[in-house]
Amino acid sequence: MSSFDNHKLGLIVPYRDRAEHIRQFLPYMLSYLAKQGIDATIYVVEQEDGTAFNRAKLLNIGVLEAEVDCDYFVMHDVDMIPVDVDYSYAAAPTHLAAAASQFNYSLPFPQYFGGITLFSREVLEAVNGYSNQYWGWGCEDDDMAWRCAFAGYSLQRRFPGRVESIRHETVRDKDRDLNREQLHAQYANKVSRNSDGLDTCQYSVIHRDETEERVWLKVSL
Ligand code: UDP
Ligand code: BGC
Repeated sequence: MSSFDNHKLGLIVPYRDRAEHIRQFLPYMLSYLAKQGIDATIYVVEQEDGTAFNRAKLLNIGVLEAEVDCDYFVMHDVDMIPVDVDYSYAAAPTHLAAAASQFNYSLPFPQYFGGITLFSREVLEAVNGYSNQYWGWGCEDDDMAWRCAFAGYSLQRRFPGRVESIRHETVRDKDRDLNREQLHAQYANKVSRNSDGLDTCQYSVIHRDETEERVWLKVSL
């Protein structure tokens, strides 16, 4: 139980084939959250081989598989090691990676909403989670920012948000039918709930390994 409030965090890590990163990340993150007095379960959602990586869909699966008592979620890249990041609850959608070393401890662009982001369960249900359509690298986090904005939420950023990014080879694969502009255009004049998201997320869990501190799911998309 957090020393500050009664909120329970589900921290979701989208993952595939980054063994050295997850080996560093998990013990570090568990002790970092404990130091902040955060009541949390970490969910590693690992995508099986065979299709392009789909970060957003893995995050949706984490939400769908998380215990019902998690009332807020942090979506967390495995290569972002927090140095000064506050993981306590926020009601508004909140960006936590404001100063990552991979972007020279700054933002790559003012609207950046990737890397580490926090959402209450209520916000995720209102925007229907992430789109499941972003196969390959990029744009899924921009799309989520649009979802939140069009649902009337004001996006917040929490400082200092200092992060050391683990260096790795840059992968910029893309394998999707719609490009960023087409997807974003779908939000113009949007008034209804997103039709693609948590409630259309199809997957199967191939393997589940649970310890007291974390749940590791291997999934097929
Ligand atoms: N990721 C992964 N395996 C992959 C691609 C991505 O585990 O093959 C996850 C991992 O959590 C990573 C995040 O997706 O931190 C974002 O991908 P990446 O680090 O490649 O994006 P970048 O930081 O280079 O924009
Ligand atoms: C991509 C995002 C990414 C950001 C920072 C943007 O162009 O669409 O997915 O998080 O760059 O790398």
